[in-house]
Amino acid sequence: MDRQTRLPHLRLRPKVQAVPVIAMISLLVLTAAAGRCQERPTSKIVIAHRGASGYLPEHTLAAYALAHGMGADFIEPDLVMTRDGKLVCVHDIHLDSTTDVDQVFPDRKRADGHWYAADLTLEEVRRLAVHERLGQRFPQTSVARFSVPTFAEMIELVQGLNRTTGRTAGIYPELKEPAWHREAGLPMEEAFLELVGRYGYEGPRAAIFVQCFEPATLERLRALGSKLPQVLLIGDERGAQQTTDDALALAVGYANGIGPSKSLLEADPEIVARAHRRGLVVHPYTFRADDLPPPYKTLEDELKRFYSELGVDGLFTDFPDRARRFLDRPAG
Ligand code: G3P
Ligand code: CA
Repeated sequence: MDRQTRLPHLRLRPKVQAVPVIAMISLLVLTAAAGRCQERPTSKIVIAHRGASGYLPEHTLAAYALAHGMGADFIEPDLVMTRDGKLVCVHDIHLDSTTDVDQVFPDRKRADGHWYAADLTLEEVRRLAVHERLGQRFPQTSVARFSVPTFAEMIELVQGLNRTTGRTAGIYPELKEPAWHREAGLPMEEAFLELVGRYGYEGPRAAIFVQCFEPATLERLRALGSKLPQVLLIGDERGAQQTTDDALALAVGYANGIGPSKSLLEADPEIVARAHRRGLVVHPYTFRADDLPPPYKTLEDELKRFYSELGVDGLFTDFPDRARRFLDRPAG
Protein backbone atom coordinates (compact mmCIF):
# COMPACT_ATOMS: atom_id res chain seq x y z
CA MET A 1 0.00 0.00 0.00
CA ASP A 2 1.51 3.36 -0.90
CA ARG A 3 1.29 6.63 0.94
CA GLN A 4 -1.80 7.90 -0.82
CA THR A 5 -3.98 4.98 0.20
CA ARG A 6 -3.37 5.18 3.92
CA LEU A 7 -4.04 7.76 6.56
CA PRO A 8 -3.83 7.39 10.32
CA HIS A 9 -7.34 8.73 10.68
CA LEU A 10 -8.95 6.32 13.10
CA ARG A 11 -9.36 6.84 16.80
CA LEU A 12 -7.79 3.86 18.53
CA ARG A 13 -10.10 1.59 20.39
CA PRO A 14 -9.54 1.22 24.13
CA LYS A 15 -8.42 -2.40 23.73
CA VAL A 16 -5.49 -1.41 21.51
CA GLN A 17 -4.48 1.79 23.25
CA ALA A 18 -1.83 0.15 25.44
CA VAL A 19 0.72 -0.11 22.63
CA PRO A 20 4.47 -0.05 23.29
CA VAL A 21 6.21 3.34 23.13
CA ILE A 22 8.15 2.27 20.03
CA ALA A 23 4.86 1.57 18.23
CA MET A 24 3.55 4.99 19.25
CA ILE A 25 6.67 6.63 17.82
CA SER A 26 6.18 4.68 14.57
CA LEU A 27 2.59 5.88 14.45
CA LEU A 28 3.70 9.50 14.89
CA VAL A 29 6.28 9.11 12.11
CA LEU A 30 3.61 7.64 9.84
CA THR A 31 1.29 10.49 10.74
CA ALA A 32 3.88 13.09 9.78
CA ALA A 33 4.61 11.31 6.51
CA ALA A 34 1.04 10.89 5.40
CA GLY A 35 0.43 14.31 3.89
CA ARG A 36 -0.34 17.91 4.72
CA CYS A 37 -3.80 17.27 6.11
CA GLN A 38 -2.28 15.22 8.92
CA GLU A 39 -0.16 18.18 10.06
CA ARG A 40 -3.21 20.20 11.01
CA PRO A 41 -3.65 20.84 14.71
CA THR A 42 -6.90 18.87 14.77
CA SER A 43 -7.73 15.26 14.10
CA LYS A 44 -11.32 16.10 13.24
CA ILE A 45 -12.20 15.50 9.61
CA VAL A 46 -14.22 17.06 6.80
CA ILE A 47 -16.17 14.65 4.58
CA ALA A 48 -17.27 16.09 1.24
CA HIS A 49 -20.84 14.83 0.86
CA ARG A 50 -21.38 13.69 -2.75
CA GLY A 51 -18.31 15.83 -3.59
CA ALA A 52 -18.51 19.59 -3.17
CA SER A 53 -22.19 19.22 -3.95
CA GLY A 54 -23.13 22.69 -2.70
CA TYR A 55 -21.30 24.10 -5.71
CA LEU A 56 -21.49 21.55 -8.54
CA PRO A 57 -23.87 18.70 -9.44
CA GLU A 58 -23.47 15.86 -6.93
CA HIS A 59 -21.47 12.76 -7.82
CA THR A 60 -19.62 14.22 -10.78
CA LEU A 61 -15.87 14.19 -11.28
CA ALA A 62 -15.99 17.99 -11.20
CA ALA A 63 -17.63 17.98 -7.75
CA TYR A 64 -15.10 15.46 -6.43
CA ALA A 65 -12.17 17.48 -7.83
CA LEU A 66 -13.47 20.68 -6.28
CA ALA A 67 -13.87 18.92 -2.93
CA HIS A 68 -10.26 17.82 -3.10
CA GLY A 69 -9.15 21.36 -3.91
CA MET A 70 -11.21 22.70 -1.01
CA GLY A 71 -9.27 20.56 1.44
CA ALA A 72 -11.73 17.77 2.20
CA ASP A 73 -10.12 14.97 4.17
CA PHE A 74 -12.47 12.41 2.65
CA ILE A 75 -14.67 12.49 -0.44
CA GLU A 76 -17.92 10.55 -0.56
CA PRO A 77 -19.22 8.56 -3.51
CA ASP A 78 -22.58 6.80 -3.13
CA LEU A 79 -22.47 3.53 -5.09
CA VAL A 80 -25.05 1.58 -7.09
CA MET A 81 -24.64 -1.15 -9.71
CA THR A 82 -25.42 -1.33 -13.40
CA ARG A 83 -27.05 -4.34 -15.05
CA ASP A 84 -23.62 -5.64 -16.02
CA GLY A 85 -22.33 -5.40 -12.46
CA LYS A 86 -20.29 -2.19 -12.60
CA LEU A 87 -20.15 0.15 -9.60
CA VAL A 88 -21.14 3.70 -10.52
CA CYS A 89 -21.45 6.87 -8.45
CA VAL A 90 -25.10 7.88 -8.03
CA HIS A 91 -27.08 8.66 -4.89
CA ASP A 92 -30.23 6.69 -5.67
CA ILE A 93 -30.84 3.21 -7.09
CA HIS A 94 -32.85 5.04 -9.73
CA LEU A 95 -31.46 7.64 -12.10
CA ASP A 96 -34.30 10.07 -12.76
CA SER A 97 -33.58 12.66 -10.04
CA THR A 98 -30.18 13.70 -11.39
CA THR A 99 -29.90 12.56 -15.04
CA ASP A 100 -31.70 12.90 -18.36
CA VAL A 101 -32.50 9.18 -18.44
CA ASP A 102 -36.16 9.97 -19.19
CA GLN A 103 -35.06 11.68 -22.43
CA VAL A 104 -32.44 9.11 -23.49
CA PHE A 105 -34.32 5.91 -22.58
CA PRO A 106 -38.02 6.86 -22.44
CA ASP A 107 -39.13 3.22 -22.78
CA ARG A 108 -37.07 1.90 -19.85
CA LYS A 109 -39.29 3.34 -17.13
CA ARG A 110 -40.61 0.80 -14.63
CA ALA A 111 -44.24 0.66 -13.53
CA ASP A 112 -43.32 2.63 -10.40
CA GLY A 113 -42.31 5.60 -12.56
CA HIS A 114 -38.55 5.24 -12.02
CA TRP A 115 -35.56 4.37 -14.21
CA TYR A 116 -33.14 2.06 -12.39
CA ALA A 117 -29.36 1.89 -12.83
CA ALA A 118 -29.72 -1.89 -12.45
CA ASP A 119 -31.75 -1.95 -15.70
CA LEU A 120 -29.03 -0.25 -17.77
CA THR A 121 -25.58 -1.42 -18.81
CA LEU A 122 -22.57 0.75 -18.07
CA GLU A 123 -22.39 1.65 -21.75
CA GLU A 124 -25.97 2.92 -21.53
CA VAL A 125 -25.34 4.83 -18.30
CA ARG A 126 -22.41 6.54 -19.99
CA ARG A 127 -24.85 8.10 -22.48
CA LEU A 128 -26.62 10.03 -19.71
CA ALA A 129 -26.02 13.64 -18.73
CA VAL A 130 -26.04 14.51 -15.03
CA HIS A 131 -27.76 17.67 -13.83
CA GLU A 132 -28.08 19.48 -10.52
CA ARG A 133 -30.69 18.03 -8.14
CA LEU A 134 -31.66 21.21 -6.29
CA GLY A 135 -33.13 24.33 -7.85
CA GLN A 136 -31.23 26.82 -5.69
CA ARG A 137 -27.82 25.44 -6.64
CA PHE A 138 -25.88 24.98 -9.89
CA PRO A 139 -28.05 25.82 -12.95
CA GLN A 140 -30.04 22.72 -13.86
CA THR A 141 -30.04 23.59 -17.55
CA SER A 142 -26.33 24.33 -17.91
CA VAL A 143 -24.71 23.51 -21.26
CA ALA A 144 -21.71 22.22 -19.32
CA ARG A 145 -21.94 18.45 -19.65
CA PHE A 146 -21.50 16.19 -16.63
CA SER A 147 -21.67 12.42 -16.68
CA VAL A 148 -22.05 9.51 -14.25
CA PRO A 149 -18.58 8.42 -13.09
CA THR A 150 -17.66 4.84 -12.41
CA PHE A 151 -16.27 4.15 -8.96
CA ALA A 152 -12.93 3.32 -10.61
CA GLU A 153 -12.88 6.73 -12.30
CA MET A 154 -13.64 8.43 -9.00
CA ILE A 155 -10.78 6.62 -7.25
CA GLU A 156 -8.34 7.39 -10.06
CA LEU A 157 -9.32 11.06 -9.93
CA VAL A 158 -8.73 11.26 -6.17
CA GLN A 159 -5.47 9.31 -6.33
CA GLY A 160 -4.29 11.47 -9.25
CA LEU A 161 -5.01 14.63 -7.28
CA ASN A 162 -3.32 13.15 -4.23
CA ARG A 163 -0.22 12.74 -6.32
CA THR A 164 -0.28 16.11 -8.11
CA THR A 165 -1.16 18.17 -5.03
CA GLY A 166 0.91 16.21 -2.52
CA ARG A 167 -2.10 16.16 -0.20
CA THR A 168 -3.79 12.86 0.54
CA ALA A 169 -7.57 12.80 0.59
CA GLY A 170 -9.32 9.57 1.45
CA ILE A 171 -12.51 8.13 0.01
CA TYR A 172 -15.71 7.46 1.94
CA PRO A 173 -17.87 5.18 -0.27
CA GLU A 174 -21.44 4.26 0.68
CA LEU A 175 -22.92 1.00 -0.60
CA LYS A 176 -26.51 1.90 -1.45
CA GLU A 177 -29.21 -0.68 -0.70
CA PRO A 178 -27.07 -3.83 -0.90
CA ALA A 179 -30.00 -6.10 0.05
CA TRP A 180 -32.04 -4.70 -2.86
CA HIS A 181 -29.10 -5.22 -5.21
CA ARG A 182 -28.54 -8.79 -4.02
CA GLU A 183 -32.22 -9.54 -4.60
CA ALA A 184 -31.77 -8.17 -8.12
CA GLY A 185 -28.86 -10.59 -8.72
CA LEU A 186 -26.20 -7.94 -8.20
CA PRO A 187 -24.22 -8.65 -5.02
CA MET A 188 -22.26 -5.50 -4.25
CA GLU A 189 -19.87 -6.49 -1.50
CA GLU A 190 -17.61 -8.80 -3.52
CA ALA A 191 -17.36 -6.38 -6.44
CA PHE A 192 -16.65 -3.53 -4.04
CA LEU A 193 -13.82 -5.32 -2.22
CA GLU A 194 -12.24 -6.46 -5.47
CA LEU A 195 -12.19 -2.91 -6.80
CA VAL A 196 -10.87 -1.10 -3.72
CA GLY A 197 -8.26 -3.85 -3.25
CA ARG A 198 -7.09 -3.32 -6.81
CA TYR A 199 -6.49 0.35 -5.97
CA GLY A 200 -4.54 -0.39 -2.79
CA TYR A 201 -7.16 0.17 -0.10
CA GLU A 202 -6.43 -2.67 2.28
CA GLY A 203 -6.19 -3.05 6.02
CA PRO A 204 -7.38 -1.02 8.99
CA ARG A 205 -5.30 2.09 8.26
CA ALA A 206 -6.32 2.54 4.64
CA ALA A 207 -7.51 6.04 3.68
CA ILE A 208 -11.08 4.90 3.37
CA PHE A 209 -14.24 4.56 5.40
CA VAL A 210 -16.81 2.11 4.08
CA GLN A 211 -20.32 3.20 5.02
CA CYS A 212 -23.70 1.51 4.86
CA PHE A 213 -27.13 1.71 6.50
CA GLU A 214 -27.38 -2.10 6.45
CA PRO A 215 -25.49 -3.86 9.29
CA ALA A 216 -25.67 -7.14 7.34
CA THR A 217 -23.48 -5.66 4.63
CA LEU A 218 -20.84 -4.48 7.08
CA GLU A 219 -20.89 -7.97 8.62
CA ARG A 220 -20.64 -9.56 5.18
CA LEU A 221 -17.63 -7.42 4.32
CA ARG A 222 -15.91 -8.58 7.52
CA ALA A 223 -16.82 -12.20 6.70
CA LEU A 224 -15.22 -11.72 3.29
CA GLY A 225 -12.01 -10.79 5.09
CA SER A 226 -12.12 -7.00 4.89
CA LYS A 227 -10.31 -5.12 7.65
CA LEU A 228 -11.11 -1.71 6.17
CA PRO A 229 -12.55 0.97 8.50
CA GLN A 230 -16.35 0.68 8.49
CA VAL A 231 -19.10 3.06 9.56
CA LEU A 232 -22.69 2.12 10.33
CA LEU A 233 -25.07 4.79 9.06
CA ILE A 234 -28.02 5.41 11.36
CA GLY A 235 -31.22 7.10 10.25
CA ASP A 236 -33.94 8.77 12.27
CA GLU A 237 -36.44 5.94 12.04
CA ARG A 238 -34.53 3.33 14.07
CA GLY A 239 -31.99 5.73 15.53
CA ALA A 240 -33.01 5.45 19.17
CA GLN A 241 -32.71 1.63 19.13
CA GLN A 242 -29.44 1.66 17.20
CA THR A 243 -27.67 4.05 19.57
CA THR A 244 -28.32 2.40 22.93
CA ASP A 245 -25.26 1.19 24.78
CA ASP A 246 -26.15 -2.43 23.98
CA ALA A 247 -26.65 -1.66 20.28
CA LEU A 248 -23.32 0.16 20.08
CA ALA A 249 -21.62 -2.78 21.82
CA LEU A 250 -22.93 -5.00 19.01
CA ALA A 251 -21.87 -2.52 16.32
CA VAL A 252 -18.27 -2.72 17.56
CA GLY A 253 -18.25 -6.24 16.13
CA TYR A 254 -18.28 -4.91 12.58
CA ALA A 255 -17.90 -1.11 12.67
CA ASN A 256 -15.25 1.41 13.63
CA GLY A 257 -17.70 4.27 13.76
CA ILE A 258 -21.26 5.44 13.38
CA GLY A 259 -22.77 7.94 10.97
CA PRO A 260 -25.96 9.18 12.63
CA SER A 261 -28.31 11.80 11.27
CA LYS A 262 -27.54 15.10 12.92
CA SER A 263 -31.05 15.32 14.36
CA LEU A 264 -30.39 12.14 16.36
CA LEU A 265 -27.44 13.83 18.05
CA GLU A 266 -29.44 16.96 18.73
CA ALA A 267 -32.11 14.83 20.42
CA ASP A 268 -29.60 12.75 22.40
CA PRO A 269 -26.15 14.37 22.64
CA GLU A 270 -24.98 11.51 24.89
CA ILE A 271 -24.75 9.29 21.81
CA VAL A 272 -21.31 10.77 21.15
CA ALA A 273 -19.95 9.81 24.57
CA ARG A 274 -21.52 6.34 24.39
CA ALA A 275 -19.94 5.74 20.99
CA HIS A 276 -16.56 7.08 22.10
CA ARG A 277 -16.56 4.81 25.15
CA ARG A 278 -16.84 1.91 22.70
CA GLY A 279 -14.01 3.29 20.55
CA LEU A 280 -16.37 4.28 17.75
CA VAL A 281 -15.86 7.52 15.83
CA VAL A 282 -18.94 9.67 15.19
CA HIS A 283 -19.53 11.27 11.76
CA PRO A 284 -23.02 12.80 11.48
CA TYR A 285 -24.74 13.89 8.25
CA THR A 286 -25.57 16.25 6.47
CA PHE A 287 -24.49 19.90 6.93
CA ARG A 288 -25.78 22.38 4.34
CA ALA A 289 -25.37 26.14 4.25
CA ASP A 290 -28.53 26.50 2.17
CA ASP A 291 -30.71 24.27 4.36
CA LEU A 292 -30.02 25.25 7.94
CA PRO A 293 -32.19 23.77 10.70
CA PRO A 294 -33.34 26.03 13.52
CA PRO A 295 -31.92 27.58 15.61
CA TYR A 296 -28.79 28.05 13.50
CA LYS A 297 -28.31 31.32 11.65
CA THR A 298 -25.13 30.26 9.83
CA LEU A 299 -23.45 27.03 8.86
CA GLU A 300 -20.56 28.00 11.13
CA ASP A 301 -22.94 28.15 14.12
CA GLU A 302 -24.02 24.61 13.35
CA LEU A 303 -20.45 23.42 12.79
CA LYS A 304 -19.44 24.90 16.15
CA ARG A 305 -22.27 23.06 17.89
CA PHE A 306 -21.29 19.68 16.41
CA TYR A 307 -17.49 19.85 16.19
CA SER A 308 -16.82 21.87 19.32
CA GLU A 309 -19.71 21.26 21.72
CA LEU A 310 -21.03 17.80 20.84
CA GLY A 311 -17.49 16.60 20.07
CA VAL A 312 -18.04 14.72 16.83
CA ASP A 313 -14.95 13.42 15.02
CA GLY A 314 -16.00 14.55 11.56
CA LEU A 315 -19.08 15.37 9.54
CA PHE A 316 -20.58 15.13 6.08
CA THR A 317 -21.08 18.47 4.40
CA ASP A 318 -22.04 19.77 0.95
CA PHE A 319 -19.78 22.76 1.68
CA PRO A 320 -16.36 21.26 2.52
CA ASP A 321 -14.58 24.60 2.13
CA ARG A 322 -16.61 26.08 4.99
CA ALA A 323 -15.94 23.14 7.31
CA ARG A 324 -12.23 23.20 6.38
CA ARG A 325 -12.03 26.91 7.23
CA PHE A 326 -13.90 26.32 10.46
CA LEU A 327 -11.48 23.61 11.61
CA ASP A 328 -8.42 25.57 10.48
CA ARG A 329 -9.47 28.87 12.05
CA PRO A 330 -6.93 30.41 14.40
CA ALA A 331 -7.39 29.34 18.01
CA GLY A 332 -8.86 31.80 20.47
O1 G3P B 1 -23.77 8.75 3.83
C1 G3P B 1 -24.05 9.77 4.72
C2 G3P B 1 -25.21 10.43 4.17
O2 G3P B 1 -24.86 10.73 2.86
C3 G3P B 1 -26.40 9.53 4.19
O3 G3P B 1 -27.40 10.12 3.54
O4 G3P B 1 -28.95 9.97 1.71
O5 G3P B 1 -27.12 11.62 1.58
O6 G3P B 1 -26.65 9.21 1.29
P1 G3P B 1 -27.51 10.23 1.94
CA1 CA C 1 -24.27 8.93 1.31
